[in-house]
Amino acid sequence: MTTQRILTGITPSGTPHLGNYAGAIRPAVEASQRPGVESFYFLSDYHALVKTGEPERVQRSTLEIAATWLASGLRPERVWFYRQSDIPEITELAWLLTCVTGKGLLNRAHAYKAAVDKNIAESEEPDAGVTMGLFMYPVLMAADILMFNAHKVPVGRDQVQHLEMARDIAASFNHRYGEHFVLPEAAVDESVATLPGLDGRKMSKSYDNIIPLFAPPDTLKKLVFGIITDSKAPGEPKETEGSALFQLFQAFATPSETETMRSRFAEGISWGEAKEALFHKLEGVIAPMRARYEELINEPARIEQVLKSGATALRAKYATPFITRLREAAGLRSLDRLPAPPTNRAKAQAKPQFKQYREADGLFYFKFVGSNGHPLLQSRGFASAREAGQAVAGIKNGEGYEQWGERAPGASDTDIRQAIDALRAD
Ligand code: TRP
Repeated sequence: MTTQRILTGITPSGTPHLGNYAGAIRPAVEASQRPGVESFYFLSDYHALVKTGEPERVQRSTLEIAATWLASGLRPERVWFYRQSDIPEITELAWLLTCVTGKGLLNRAHAYKAAVDKNIAESEEPDAGVTMGLFMYPVLMAADILMFNAHKVPVGRDQVQHLEMARDIAASFNHRYGEHFVLPEAAVDESVATLPGLDGRKMSKSYDNIIPLFAPPDTLKKLVFGIITDSKAPGEPKETEGSALFQLFQAFATPSETETMRSRFAEGISWGEAKEALFHKLEGVIAPMRARYEELINEPARIEQVLKSGATALRAKYATPFITRLREAAGLRSLDRLPAPPTNRAKAQAKPQFKQYREADGLFYFKFVGSNGHPLLQSRGFASAREAGQAVAGIKNGEGYEQWGERAPGASDTDIRQAIDALRAD
């Protein structure tokens, strides 16, 4: 079995909180310990520039997040752990991908559309305040993933569309330049908790309801005691369903501890006691990590060195040879190795072609294949060779192809029309 490459990025634009830990860091560290996987975890600091214009914040957050991953048990000698901006091949790839990415694809990105909708609702220009960084975000993300031909990309639900775009972009590049990229898949883990924040909504910096992962114990305690609950008195049975307190407890406790807490809720534990129990549970899990975190954060040069050596090894093993191959494929080539001019026979073969054939089902089919050998169109089945031939003739006459078949994966309408035009031109 080939190793599965698992890759995910973490944008350093804030301070890690309990939700990041339970939802992303802990499952990723666990996954990296399974055999048969090669894991790539990186700090997407270029992406941070889309979210914040504060240089100190990017730097600080990069340090905090790197220290958090290391304190959470990530073993940099067993996984690839690096910073995006230390791998210049990624931005170079982003440009190669930009040139095969339809603008229309990016127009449909949720984050961009949300910004436009908001502007329109506020009677602003549709693109007011929208940077090209925001617009191009999915292309850079595709470059992160495709650079290492990752198979699986663990992400939150909000990132699934970006993975679909990465697949589209990869297919377009493969279609134009040959099979270079694996089509990556999103891995959305349903069992991973989306943690509620202090107010019961999803824990998120944008709701201002977070509990920082490494807050000092007294701050942690204060925050836990500030979690919103209903106003049931001590002794009254309490609902676990919909209780932020209970969900947070569950995310850090063993199944049997969770069941005990469930009974205590039914028996009418007071909110004060429940908060005390949650605080102790959290502190028990976090304290040892916090100690490691504090050590690390006080040695930024060591973290810098870990990140730098990850990037150096990764460039040598994957990024540099791969970008060389991709540049070559796209025609960014040395001029001292010009190919021999094509022979007449090669020229004839280099034309788009219709290929007719019969299948085991007894029906007649055709494929339309581009000059580079890539499939463009797959016909439906026809009862006779004559009907299939008539459909081909119609397409060559420019009568359209849509009614006769389906575009091949990765082939765009423009590719097909250009190929038909090329055939009609001679
Ligand atoms: N966009 C991701 C987020 O905000 C971070 C990210 C950047 C990423 N590049 C990536 C995630 C590549 C997975 C793969 O959460």
